[in-house]
Amino acid sequence: MPEISTIDTTPFDDQRPGTAGLRKKVSRVQTPHYLENFLQAIFNCADIGQGPLVIGGDGRYYNDQAIRICIAVALGNGIRDIIVGRDGLLSTPAASHVIRHYQARGGLVLSASHNPAGPKGDFGIKFNVANGGQASETLTEAIYQQSLKLSSYRIAEIPELDFSRIGEQPLNNGMLRVIDPVDDYAALMQRLFDFDQIADYLKSGARVAYDAMHAVTGPYARRLFVDMLGADPDSLMNCQPLADFGGGHPDPNLKYAKALVKLLMADDGPDLGAASDGDGDRNMILGRGIFVSPGDSLAVLADNLSLCPGYHKGLQGVARSMPTSRAVDIVARENGLALHETPTGWRFFCNLLDAGKITLCGEESFGTGSNHVREKDGLWAVLAWLNILAARRQSVAEIMQQHWGRYGRHYYQRHDYEGLPQEQADALVGALRSNLGNIVGGELEGQPVTLADEFDYHDPVDGSLSRGQGIRVLFGDQARLVVRLSGTGTAGATLRLYFERYAASNFEQPPEQALASLVNWATSALDLNRHLGRSEPDVVT
Ligand code: G1P
Ligand code: ZN
Repeated sequence: MPEISTIDTTPFDDQRPGTAGLRKKVSRVQTPHYLENFLQAIFNCADIGQGPLVIGGDGRYYNDQAIRICIAVALGNGIRDIIVGRDGLLSTPAASHVIRHYQARGGLVLSASHNPAGPKGDFGIKFNVANGGQASETLTEAIYQQSLKLSSYRIAEIPELDFSRIGEQPLNNGMLRVIDPVDDYAALMQRLFDFDQIADYLKSGARVAYDAMHAVTGPYARRLFVDMLGADPDSLMNCQPLADFGGGHPDPNLKYAKALVKLLMADDGPDLGAASDGDGDRNMILGRGIFVSPGDSLAVLADNLSLCPGYHKGLQGVARSMPTSRAVDIVARENGLALHETPTGWRFFCNLLDAGKITLCGEESFGTGSNHVREKDGLWAVLAWLNILAARRQSVAEIMQQHWGRYGRHYYQRHDYEGLPQEQADALVGALRSNLGNIVGGELEGQPVTLADEFDYHDPVDGSLSRGQGIRVLFGDQARLVVRLSGTGTAGATLRLYFERYAASNFEQPPEQALASLVNWATSALDLNRHLGRSEPDVVT
């Protein structure tokens, strides 16, 4: 029998999972008993039985050691069947698929997404349930409550394990299965998209550029684009995963994927440019000379996804998070599709996906996905775009022009103010909350405010209510401002302002120009200068 010990601990008071699991500085996670405590809280609340339990991460610093701790505490809690991706790697969407595919009872996804990695960087851990999606709010709250009162955890001594060798290895009185992290995921993509059509398109001279930002999607991209679709190996940028992501910030947006953006803005640039984040769930889409905003990407996918074999029958419905642009709403309305508006964070989509109410969903934060897994999926979105380009044989710019011509354009920007003292951020939001009554009387260039409220979400599937999910100010269908605080930061508070303006014509303005009056309106309505001592954001996406 393996040696299982019960270790006494004092509980930690900062293990409440945020928008995407528990995210902390590496040094915090390395605090003695910290990770073990959180894992014990998970195992006390979640019904995993003897497994299987899937474990994998984005390969960032501390991934390996953390996986060993996860295995030791899992064994200590009676789990006997553990599945790990080779070298401890699994992208977040691949982990979601693997959980579903092997009918696992749950999974531990080790990632802090796009947050910088390395000894001074961030680490994260997310618990996903048997449907492949993140634990519900009720479950994460229960885990948090457990973490506050635990006095001990159970941990097993584990043998030397070789994560680089595919196959089964005995694990005390259980079994470790090391699987190829790409195989099952690539097979799933092949079922959803027309690989022959895409390969023909690439053979005809179309070019793609994909930037893995030195994070987990490198091996996935090599297999899909080069080995399976025949793209030129030069199409791949930064596809070697590194424990510190090459010192970069693997967030696929205009600020952090500069080299890719430059490539696509050149006259002789590739036809499609794309990037994913640290754990592979986000995506950025660019065409030659054009950036496709995530909200527009979602709208175009809603309109075109049925060109892809996995979606030939059409969509059951679509969903977007509340701050995401309303571009997809118009596509839904004109095509008779149900449209759901959820709070920020992927887990709210999962109930709708499980209930068959939606096929496609997305967020403004470069997240898009479908019912094929229960996480957002960066490479899935890139393949969907490639399939649409291959089917329509038009450029990204032509597709966008046609889209806006038919539905109109939603100019969109998100402004982030980072590293704010929590009291400052809370004071700003508090002041806005108490001023909502006055704001309702206001207007923007003749457009009256039609609604100013705090977004509450009633889940139509399980009936749960999530309150206070962001403040929104609507100027009818013409413009909208959303204000909320981030739930994923690890240092101070981050204030996010989301700006949206509809245009029925005049699609060639720079977004900052189209949004200028709304930004000014918000700067004064929120009294940004007084609250923050500045009115320039740190990041604009
Ligand atoms: C951010 C994004 C949100 C996304 C989450 C996890 O959360 O805004 O859309 O689901 O990361 O990738 P936030 O920091 O805004 O709470
Ligand atoms: Zn991510």
